[in-house]
Amino acid sequence: MQGPAVDSDAQPGVRAASLPGRSGLSRAPDPRAAIAPMAQRVLILDFGSQVTQLIARRLRELQVFCEIHPCTWSDEQVRAFAPAAVILSGGPASTTETASPRAPAVVFELGVPVLGVCYGEQTLCAQLGGTVEPGHSREFGRATMRIAAPTQLFEGVPLESTVWMSHGDKVTAIPPGFRVLAVSDGSPFAAIGDEIRHFYGVQFHPEVAHTEHGARIYANFLFRIAGLAPDWTMHAYRDVAIARIREQVGSGRVLCGLSGGVDSAVAALLIHEAVGEQLTCVFVDTGLLRAGEAREVVELFRGHFNIPLVHVDAGAAFLGALAGTSDPEAKRKAIGRTFIDVFEAEAAKLGGADFLAQGTLYPDVIESVSFRGPSVTIKSHHNVGGLPERMRMKLVEPLRELFKDEVRALGRELGLPEAFVGRHPFPGPGLAVRILGEVSPERVAVLQQADRIYLEEIRAAGLYDRIWQAFAVLLPVKTVGVMGDGRTYEAVCALRAVTSVDGMTADFYAFEPAFLGRVASRIVNEVRGINRVVYDFTSKPPGTIEWE
Ligand code: XMP
Repeated sequence: MQGPAVDSDAQPGVRAASLPGRSGLSRAPDPRAAIAPMAQRVLILDFGSQVTQLIARRLRELQVFCEIHPCTWSDEQVRAFAPAAVILSGGPASTTETASPRAPAVVFELGVPVLGVCYGEQTLCAQLGGTVEPGHSREFGRATMRIAAPTQLFEGVPLESTVWMSHGDKVTAIPPGFRVLAVSDGSPFAAIGDEIRHFYGVQFHPEVAHTEHGARIYANFLFRIAGLAPDWTMHAYRDVAIARIREQVGSGRVLCGLSGGVDSAVAALLIHEAVGEQLTCVFVDTGLLRAGEAREVVELFRGHFNIPLVHVDAGAAFLGALAGTSDPEAKRKAIGRTFIDVFEAEAAKLGGADFLAQGTLYPDVIESVSFRGPSVTIKSHHNVGGLPERMRMKLVEPLRELFKDEVRALGRELGLPEAFVGRHPFPGPGLAVRILGEVSPERVAVLQQADRIYLEEIRAAGLYDRIWQAFAVLLPVKTVGVMGDGRTYEAVCALRAVTSVDGMTADFYAFEPAFLGRVASRIVNEVRGINRVVYDFTSKPPGTIEWE
């Protein structure tokens, strides 16, 4: 999400010229492309494990399309999905309890391969005639798996390898037709299979990195057992997505709010390629972006891609809404409200639209269908919430099946410059949540300068791509210093840098002290208003990535 201001030169209705190498406006959808990558999809039924999402990521990395749905799906829903294979995830329940979740019975009647993982193995056993008992020797963490019988599932896996276990109950008798494929010290049924029906169960988690040959095991299940092809690529998806957008939007008008981030940019490019002039991009410039980023967005869209863009310079409105506010949630809410007001006013000037484009990603979708239910709100994130209902617009969400790395790959496929694709994530409320205490134009300018120096040094040291996110934070704390012969009494700036795979957990980045010394010295020397720099060594959890 982002902030606003209106450029009078923007002509929302003007048709974008086709660019060399971007033939989207004239390209007819390729019907084969529209079917091929989706025809072979894997259904992951979620029993509530913390790592179900990782199963989907592993499959996508193997270029197989899959979706996660709750284990409470009905037989009809499973049938309508028409999976080429089914994976039953792990979960916290115990099959020994009467109300324990079960896989829809039809899963075992479709004639497609089924793999049960951890709880998935246990329910598969319980449902097909085996038995599961509460475990006396619970098994958590690393274990050694020994292959007990030759099987396609373990082709290429050494006879002994490390796997990750996390279970209390255990299988004590396997269903008719099954045999033992692998054992561990704690699990006589670490892996089982009925190779006629292609039903398999593993007690361990192949999706976690600690399982040495986990990717190989999933690849064997998908390619050798289920006979799937690795055809899920962003190159293929581009055509599928474009065909779908055309079908959904028809001749309607689409508004897309650009935030300066990768997701909304990729969504906009894709929609522009699909429906050309029917799309208008609105860039609400909150005045809370990093130094230079608003200009880059405008140049990229208008200059590089020749896509009409309304640049709403709403810095004053956002600063006005934030005046006198120090509480983090109050700031987020004020920004969310202002964004909606500004966006709505802009849309009205443009004469309205039928659709609102949003860069929703798959992790948000999974979160909302999760078998575990919604998680606690730590921070109010989605600042556009409420907009579509209020404006009576339908949503176009062309990225809702994609993980972040897939969005980046799609961005490259669409010609987005590498520097933009690789940008660190940036929060919707922008620098407002990195300026602790009250946000004023002066404090925004001070933080922008410090942040620019920090990122310049990170880039110069070749570290930018090793870090998930790096930024400076302005504290509402003043300290005494000495510069030349004089006393200073100015603000403290904190530097943060973390590594992460998805932003859900993160580790602080361990810079060399000399690097931090160089950045601190530049900031104190070059930025008036800061006389001390500190580094944040907190990981997530217990800290969050942003300070507010
Ligand atoms: P936290 O601070 O919760 O952040 O550890 C996790 C990731 O989310 C980003 N973030 C946001 N993104 N709107 C966004 O679009 C928001 O309000 C928001 N707050 C945090 C944060 O930068 C990190 O990548």
